[in-house]
Amino acid sequence: MVKLYRCIICGDAYVGANPPSNCAFCGAHMSYIMEAKEAVVNFDVPLSAKDKANAEHALKVEVSNSTFYFCAAEKTNDPEGKLLFKALGKIEAEHASIWRKILKRGSVPSGNDTCHTENVENLQESHARETRAIEFYRKSAAESSHPRIRQIFEALVEIETDHLHLSEERLK
Ligand SMILES: [Fe+2]
Ligand SMILES: [Fe+2]
Repeated sequence: MVKLYRCIICGDAYVGANPPSNCAFCGAHMSYIMEAKEAVVNFDVPLSAKDKANAEHALKVEVSNSTFYFCAAEKTNDPEGKLLFKALGKIEAEHASIWRKILKRGSVPSGNDTCHTENVENLQESHARETRAIEFYRKSAAESSHPRIRQIFEALVEIETDHLHLSEERLK
């Protein structure tokens, strides 16, 4: 028997026999996935000046990182690396769309980041980008007094930490 599950971080739904261990769209952990009929997903949040500034920066970070990953998916000289960077590009693009909804923007701006042909250089750059993102999201979560904004920042800390482990595993 399949069910409809929904991620409360990105709001997207998944059909399956069991909830996935991570959201297939944004990578959120299983604790954020529930049956769609029970899921409460809200993007209509009043933003403090600090939350708004952090959300604007988060949108830029996610656009930049997804652009880098899609570039790496094309150019990196390793077949598994291509798959990894494409998967990460899709997840970061989903994160950009979370911030687009929070900021009530019509569209996601486009990025102009470049990448490398050497897979190891792309893995190193991934590691640096994810490290910066995690630090920023951790600080932003601590700075927010709104439970929904804090929830999104905290979920993103977990997701980007998973990405960090993917590059660390391959750089050993
Ligand atoms: Fe999600
Ligand atoms: Fe992200």
